[in-house]
Amino acid sequence: MSLELELAHLASLIAREAGDLARTRRAEGVHLAATKSTLADIVTDADREVEALIRARLQAARPGDGFLGEESEADPGETGITWVVDPIDGTVNYAYGIPSYAVSIAAVSGTAVPGEWNALAAAVYAPASGETFTAARGHGAFLGEQRLAVTSETPAGALLATGFGYDPATHDGDLATVRAIMPIARDLRRAGSAALDLAFVAAGRLDGYFERGLKPWDHAAGALLVSEAGGRVSLIDTASPRPMVVAGGTRVHDRILEILRDET
Ligand code: IPD
Repeated sequence: MSLELELAHLASLIAREAGDLARTRRAEGVHLAATKSTLADIVTDADREVEALIRARLQAARPGDGFLGEESEADPGETGITWVVDPIDGTVNYAYGIPSYAVSIAAVSGTAVPGEWNALAAAVYAPASGETFTAARGHGAFLGEQRLAVTSETPAGALLATGFGYDPATHDGDLATVRAIMPIARDLRRAGSAALDLAFVAAGRLDGYFERGLKPWDHAAGALLVSEAGGRVSLIDTASPRPMVVAGGTRVHDRILEILRDET
């Protein structure tokens, strides 16, 4: 088995165990542990517990690999492979009891910086639906056993998704971007988990996705799902504090980039 497939298999096993723990904790009741960048940017006890479980499982299976997670300290490791982990992507949904949240785990090689790393393997597990999306570089993207492909035709306009950051001061700018892109859309979704938005683009459930200000762990796994499903992903404005991720089938992806270029 290739290294990429081995890493994807491991990511998927751990994501499922971690997601099942998150679901159990959700049923027991959510406890807010802290707020982060703004009052709306929350972390629950479950985020921390689930990340600790993922970290321990990875450490046991692949000692020496690096770790970059949402809730604990980064470790560069010594193998050249880093695990980029969001224990619960969609924490606000999770806290409110909306079932759209996911465990997101990616293995990357090279510098552990989005746009510079080489993504090798990914798993996104949605505990509420029981769906596991996986990808291994060069081996395609899958939902369970089913191979995924992005959409190519959008005759009625593109079904798009986006998201908004936790800082209310950025909402106006993000809404202006939405206004500029809407002419190519048939409709717009804001489901609250970037990892699932990207997984849904890979699965052809969405035609495209764009969002500013994501953190590396929000998009590391989902971006590989999209590219292995034949789509395109760009990380633009990387010098800004809120770089933007754009994903979709080639046509929709390129059209969004054109609109963004014309907008600036
Ligand atoms: C958030 C989700 C959300 C996106 C936010 C992210 P978190 O991740 O992916 O969809 O709009 O920008 O921060 O905080 O729930 O892990």
